[in-house]
Amino acid sequence: MTQKITPAHPLEKRVMLAGFEEPNSWTLDVFEKKLGGYVSARKAVTMNPDDIIALVKDSGLRGLGGAGFPAGMKWSFIPKNSAKPVYLVVNADEGEPGTFKDRQLMEHLPHRLIEGMIAAASAVNAKIGYIYVRGELRLAIKRLEAAVEEAYKAGYLGKNIFGSGRDLDITVHPGAGAYICGEETGLIESLEGDRGQPRLKPPFPAVSGVFGGPTVVNNVETLSSVPGIINNGAQWYMALGGGTVRNGGTKLLCVSGDVQRPGFYEIPVGTKLSVLLNDICGGPLPGRKFKACYPGGSSSPLLKAEEFEVGLDFDSLAAAKSMAGSGAVIVMDDRRSIPEMAMRTARFYAHESCGQCVPCREGTRWVYSMTKRLCKGQGALSDIDKLIDACANMQGRTICVLADACAMPLESMLKKFRPEFEAIARPDSEVEAIVPKVSGQMAALMETIRARQANR
Ligand SMILES: Cc1cc2nc3c(=O)[nH]c(=O)nc-3n(C[C@H](O)[C@H](O)[C@H](O)COP(=O)(O)O)c2cc1C
Repeated sequence: MTQKITPAHPLEKRVMLAGFEEPNSWTLDVFEKKLGGYVSARKAVTMNPDDIIALVKDSGLRGLGGAGFPAGMKWSFIPKNSAKPVYLVVNADEGEPGTFKDRQLMEHLPHRLIEGMIAAASAVNAKIGYIYVRGELRLAIKRLEAAVEEAYKAGYLGKNIFGSGRDLDITVHPGAGAYICGEETGLIESLEGDRGQPRLKPPFPAVSGVFGGPTVVNNVETLSSVPGIINNGAQWYMALGGGTVRNGGTKLLCVSGDVQRPGFYEIPVGTKLSVLLNDICGGPLPGRKFKACYPGGSSSPLLKAEEFEVGLDFDSLAAAKSMAGSGAVIVMDDRRSIPEMAMRTARFYAHESCGQCVPCREGTRWVYSMTKRLCKGQGALSDIDKLIDACANMQGRTICVLADACAMPLESMLKKFRPEFEAIARPDSEVEAIVPKVSGQMAALMETIRARQANR
């Protein structure tokens, strides 16, 4: 089912979403005739690749998939005159809990993404593009495939696109719905037909990515921002948001949880979180008060309601010790239990860990079982510090940042809402009384295993 189409709120600025409400916006006919479609692509294929990169660098466009890496800079890392083919990969895996923005862009404006891909491919001289899309997004896949077919028929994809002498082939590749396949090197492994496990870096994908060729991986939203920049220029883009090279443009935010009007909104970067939640989303539910939110998906450290005056831009959120992440704002009101949120968050990451690195495989399971124990009323007061310690030891020690993505929000919950954890914990002496029983069972199990091994 697709989301309900609502007119833009006056505080929104629709650039990527421009034309979203137009009937049949996903067809080539409507996209070209009513939404100014493929004007930027026609321009990009005639531009010098270095000029496209310079324009995108000047615009300050940052990766909108989570890490916020400057897009133009990423493109500039692709070697010129590579002997191996250069690949452009769209990360459409969208697996971060609370995030549903890329899906909207793909379902309603798939041609804008293709336009962005044409510009990016022209910048890095890629002739092969993949859209790696989450397998559950059936409608997005259907519309992307139809849009790619239409673009081929019109001569916008394939050989000699727009008569420019450039070639670009695009394949839509559905994934199987694993969060780890959103990590760019896990995605590349999966695209190549292997198990989706992140690769050690370096080499980075720009040097050795898909089938060993130089590869750019960009998020759907990042590439959907590019046509506007090609058409209107770097200054225009920057001025849409905070007006600085680090925090300009617009950002799609997915708001879910305890607010009056959850949904997805395109806002100028730098809009205050309080403005988003109160003015655009209508504030808390009747009779309730905001308690906290994740500002950038379930991997981002929690912000307390007192911190909601922060600007929704990369630097302000980093200064508040959280992050812009995937743009998913998950809101909790005064009814919600933070230990329960911690347990659910840990459960997700424990389930999604690929198991390659010990601090992640063991750490995510361990913090899940400890938070579960606390929520069942069987945890000890000392578990709180053990959890904080475990979170610290999970960060910065693994091939990818899935372990950090679990530890960071948990650590913020334990530190900012410690009294809630203390209120459900039991004195250590009470819990210790249970431990020998568990150890006894464990000892018996070990004996059984030893006996079986001896009999082999
Ligand atoms: C565990 C994990 C999951 C991720 N999932 C996604 C995802 O679903 N979509 C996405 O665009 N980026 C995801 N990322 C970030 C990508 O690795 C990468 O930074 C991004 O695709 C780069 O695109 P951008 O520069 O346009 O943001 C994930 C990262 C990690 C560590």
